[in-house]
Amino acid sequence: MNIQILGIPMDLGAGRRGVDMGPSALRNARLAHHLQQLGHQVTDLGDVCVPVPETVDKFTEGGYVFLEQVLETNRAIVERLRTLPDSAFPITIGGDHSMGIGTVAGNALRGNPSGHRMGLIWVDAHADFNTPETSPSGNIHGMPVAHLTGLGERRLASLAGEWRLRNTDIVMIGIRSVDEHERELLREHGVRVYTMKDIDQKGITRVTEETLDYLSDTERLHVSYDADALDPSVTPGTGTTVPGGLTYREGHLLMELLCDSGRVTSLDIVEVNPILDTRNKTAEVMVSMAASLLGQRIL
Ligand code: ARG
Ligand code: MN
Ligand code: MN
Ligand code: MN
Repeated sequence: MNIQILGIPMDLGAGRRGVDMGPSALRNARLAHHLQQLGHQVTDLGDVCVPVPETVDKFTEGGYVFLEQVLETNRAIVERLRTLPDSAFPITIGGDHSMGIGTVAGNALRGNPSGHRMGLIWVDAHADFNTPETSPSGNIHGMPVAHLTGLGERRLASLAGEWRLRNTDIVMIGIRSVDEHERELLREHGVRVYTMKDIDQKGITRVTEETLDYLSDTERLHVSYDADALDPSVTPGTGTTVPGGLTYREGHLLMELLCDSGRVTSLDIVEVNPILDTRNKTAEVMVSMAASLLGQRIL
């Protein structure tokens, strides 16, 4: 595979500082090297340019914190991704999860100016389906999926022009923290959500099989992997930990089964915060997850 790594050193969408250092932490954990060991051709494209929070007022506009800066960064992500070849496998490393708007939009446009039909697998403790009206924080990392479907602010929702992610092409896995009004939105829009209860009951194997089956009509599959999907004992270095997450093996088995499907075409690794971590453990775990998605086998 022709893997292209793009760093998004952004924490503007998160409630606390530090995820802007995520790309460095993941490179330090030798992401490129591990993927090369699996036989892939790997190119590091460097980082997109992100405004420094200290240079701008942390103002709130229409229920959003740092709206203009997050918008500008996401536009840069789309521009960088859309020109990559159809055959590339982009890995976008963050950075807070507001970058998911640009990564999904940019990958949808890659090789098709009007946008591919995309399936989105959102692996996260949170649904990130808030709009400014439902968000308790105004932090845009809690809002990317809603904007991809066309909700919220028009400019953020139109990063790929007229293209929209269909509600029925979204599957969320690992969810255990949903805000009160966000829950209503999820129901209203018919998003498929596998909560931790579902994973406990069905097992991650069946959840993955159902996911692939549900998304069988999409042309491309994007996996957006938030470090907080995993249990905080596995990935402590992230800003919005929630107890009762995926185990180390559940996280890997999900990636291994998605790899076996041969259908995944792009990946985000987000919300790695080295300030909150111990000896870069979280970045190392997330690199191992990427390796499992890209062919790492026990035998
Ligand atoms: N639901 C909360 C909010 O909207 C937390 C979102 C956390 N998102 C994340 N990508 N870590 O503020
Ligand atoms: Mn998230
Ligand atoms: Mn999360
Ligand atoms: Mn469908």
